[in-house]
Amino acid sequence: MAVDGPAGAGKSTVARLLAQELGYTYLDTGAMYRSVALLARRRGVSWDDAGALGLLADGIRFAFVTGTGGIRVWADGEDVSDLIRRPEISQGASQVARWPEVRSALVREQRRLGEAGGVVMEGRDIGTVVFPEAEAKIFLTATVGERARRRAAELAGAGGPADLEAVRREVEERDRRDSERAHSPLRRAEDAREFYTDGLTVPEVVRQLAAWVRAVETR
Ligand code: DC
Repeated sequence: MAVDGPAGAGKSTVARLLAQELGYTYLDTGAMYRSVALLARRRGVSWDDAGALGLLADGIRFAFVTGTGGIRVWADGEDVSDLIRRPEISQGASQVARWPEVRSALVREQRRLGEAGGVVMEGRDIGTVVFPEAEAKIFLTATVGERARRRAAELAGAGGPADLEAVRREVEERDRRDSERAHSPLRRAEDAREFYTDGLTVPEVVRQLAAWVRAVETR
């Protein structure tokens, strides 16, 4: 099944718990775009160099490993889970995600990882591009103010900077870049269920969505 939506809507938390609840595997495609941004920065590849980024993305070996601290993301034999969450890499991820060369390499890998089914795949284009035939599609969202508050709290919890106004500007900037890009922009698939999470707790959201997915998948 597909979970798409803008930054800070609670997708990762909800998709991970939903997968647990349904006995599915969870796959975070944003972590793959983030890994491309991180490795490009390290290897001196510009976030504007579509050709070189495409080659880099094509060569990365990804592994999603369940450990004691949750699911860890490995790229080319290194656990990058913490490094890819830095704000600078968030911006880089949405820069590298503009390029069709990068997207086609990662989409190919995502289809391979999801082809057997039993996966909750989370991203921006899962219901529209990666698995348009997915049975259950969710577009998880929340107002910008709510998403900025959550992201700021998350950064503060991780010991990072948490200036709410700055985080809000960053969220708006990413929304704009992700929705306005020419290739696979963030948009709701026509047959996706739109779900606003403002004012709901995580367990409430997970409970409602799990019930909906079960109903859709046994139809
Ligand atoms: O979900 P996230 O914040 O980890 O995603 C990081 C960036 O990657 C985000 O700005 C948009 C991009 N992305 C994308 O274009 N397509 C996806 N399927 C997942 C993420």
